This record gives sequence, C-alpha cells and structure tokens, in this order.
Amino acid sequence: MPLDYWIFDPSTCQFPKPRVPILPSTFDYSVSSNEKSAFPDIGFRHFSRGRYALGEAFRLAGVGQHGALLAPAYHCVTMLDPALALGAPVLLYSLKPDLMPDLHSLDQIYAESTVPVKALLATHFFGLVRDFSRLKQWADDKGIVLVEDCSHVLFTERYRACGAGLYGKFIASSPYKFFPCTDGGLLAAQDAHFLDGVKTESAGLLCELRGIKSTIEKSRLPKLSKNDLEQIDRRLDSLVFDSLKPGVDQRIERSAQSIQYSPASATTASLLSSRWLTSHSSATNNLSRRQENYRRWVTALSDVPNCHVLYPEIPAHAAPYMFPLYLNYPTPHFYWLKLLGLPVWRWDEMVVSDCAVAEDYRLHLLHLPCHQSLSEDEMGWMVAVVRKTLALPVVGVQ
Ligand SMILES: Cc1ncc(COP(=O)(O)O)c(C=O)c1O
Repeated sequence: MPLDYWIFDPSTCQFPKPRVPILPSTFDYSVSSNEKSAFPDIGFRHFSRGRYALGEAFRLAGVGQHGALLAPAYHCVTMLDPALALGAPVLLYSLKPDLMPDLHSLDQIYAESTVPVKALLATHFFGLVRDFSRLKQWADDKGIVLVEDCSHVLFTERYRACGAGLYGKFIASSPYKFFPCTDGGLLAAQDAHFLDGVKTESAGLLCELRGIKSTIEKSRLPKLSKNDLEQIDRRLDSLVFDSLKPGVDQRIERSAQSIQYSPASATTASLLSSRWLTSHSSATNNLSRRQENYRRWVTALSDVPNCHVLYPEIPAHAAPYMFPLYLNYPTPHFYWLKLLGLPVWRWDEMVVSDCAVAEDYRLHLLHLPCHQSLSEDEMGWMVAVVRKTLALPVVGVQ
C-alpha cells in the first residue's frame, strides 16, 4: 500500500557542514561497576542500528502483509522503514502537542483498520521517559504487541534510564546516539526467551577496523575558536541581505522503505568496538552533562522571540537526547541557522497524516544537540547563533 510522504529536499540551499558534531564525539572512560542500573535480567540482541532492532521486534510481533503497525504520526522515516520492508500496512496515530499519544485517535484508527493490527510503536521522544501504562493497557486489551521505542533514551545493556523499558514486550534503542561509537542498535525483551530465534551475524574484521578508525577521527575533528564567535554578526548581516535559496518541499507516493534502510544490514550485529565503548563510558556523567547543556539552552532562550522551548522542564533523572525548539518562522530562521553551520536535525521527510501536531512540527520543530561531548566554546557558539538569528525581525511573513 503506497504511503503519501512530504519530502523536503535541501540540495538547492547550499547548507555548509555543521560546525559542531550533532552526536557525541569524545570518549569518557569509566568502568565503575556501581553504574550498572539495577534491572531484572532481560534478553538483548545487538544490531547495527535501532531501526533493525525495531524490524526484528515488528517481525516477532507478526507485522507483515497481513499485520499492520500503528506508529506515531510525528516520526523519523527509519521508524516506519522496517515495517515497510516487511510489506506491512502502516497506520499513523495522532499525538498531542507534548508528543504523548492521543488515545482517541488510536481507538479510531484501530476501529477503522481493515487489516489486523499486530504492533503498536510508542516512542519516548527526546529522552523524556513517559508513562505508557495506559497505552500498555490499551494494547493488552486488544492483544496488540507494544514495542517501546527507546531510540532517544539512554538505554544500554548496562544502564537503563529511569522508567524506560517497563512497558513494551520488545524494546529498541540506539546506543550510538548517546556514545561516540560508529554504530549500535539494541533489541531487548521482557522475557529473554522471546528472542530465542533471533540470530545476527558479525560485521567482520574490516568493518571493525574501519569503526575504530572513524571513532578516532571523530574525536579529532577541529574545534571552534574564539574567532568563530566574533564572526556570527558579520555572517548574519550578509545572510539577511542575500536572497534566500529555498529548499523544495513536495509530496510523493512511495510504498517501499527509504534508502536509509538497507535490508542487507538487517541482521548485522553492532561492532565489538561500539559495544566496548558503550559499556566503558560513564552513563551518569553522560546524563549530568546532558542535563547541564539542556538547562543552558532553556535559560539562554527564555527571552528570545520567534520560538518556544517544547519542554522547558525536564525531570532530574532524565538524560535528554536533543533539545527540541519550536520555530515560529522556519522561513527564514531555519535557513539562516543552517547557513551559519548550526547542527540541526528536523524530521522534514514524513508520511502525511491527519495529525495537526505532526504536520506543524515537521517544518517548525528543530532538534539541537545537548550531548556530553560539547565544549564550553561549542555551547557558547550555538547559543549565540540561535539567540542572534531568532532576534532578527521577519519581514513579509504572516
Ligand atoms: C524515535 C526514533 N526511533 C527509531 C529510530 C531509528 O533509530 P536508528 O537511527 O538507531 O536506526 C530513530 C532514528 O533516528 C528515531 O529518531
């Protein structure tokens, strides 16, 4: 069944490379055993990315040509790709402005589905672990497998962020988003036996060596200097006078997975070096540095016009993955931020849905880094870029 996608193509915009790494780049060695969080013995399998772990969870849940997946309307396409690779129908449920699932929408979509629904994907967006107990009850009542998406959550074999992994029969996470490793996707199951038949293959020696090389290279990327901070005003002055080269935003139909999902990699295990890095990095330092950077963003943007912070408050135990910032005027602010080299992610490729929040956030919600490897200079530069850019008046936009 083809799906209708919005796709934003930035190739005409001439955006430079981000000036600061969007994901962690430096390794913080720690082997302290008291960091292991206490959780019951659950089963794990290692994949190269969270999307392949999700794929295995969907398959085990019965998602396929005759079994649909219910997924959040605000999504990264890699959350849907594994279901599409299985040939499954994908049904999107609406979310509230805080990105919690809308249970009325779930009821409606479930009732209207002509194909049996086999799995419900529930995501803890941006590292904020949510209470999915009602959702779990809803799924249990209907005999649907709940797959808990911990891709934005600090969730590894050793460490589980507070409250995460309590709801899903299967849980998928992406350790490479929290540690400076080349790859890493984890599939966990409440009962280790659920994973009995799940087999993966090693990536091989050459890939292991390439992974180590890329980790070393990442940690040696050139850092920003004082000069970069001084250049922001001059760069912005010229951007404001230049005419903007907009990207192309269009709707297309597609029935297969995106190019970001490679069926050939679906059963490849994560690199041993990635697993070593993950289990020898300090989870508690990671969490506290992320908290610090997140709070720095919140404070720094409290008086900035033309935007709002999606979650101004985060619980003391949360390990935020990214800092979500809503822009009132993506044109021109998104363009100027990108042209200045700010590291920004935005889910501008998304399946069209009835969800007003997803439709709105697609172009308006930015994901900004708050990871543990950011230096004082990098945070200072990013904050200055956002403050100065968003303070610029917007002319001719309603
Ligand atoms: C919420 C969410 N779930 C799942 C995925 C897939 O994770 P991975 O990149 O590890 O394949 C992503 C990708 O960014 C994501 O943002």
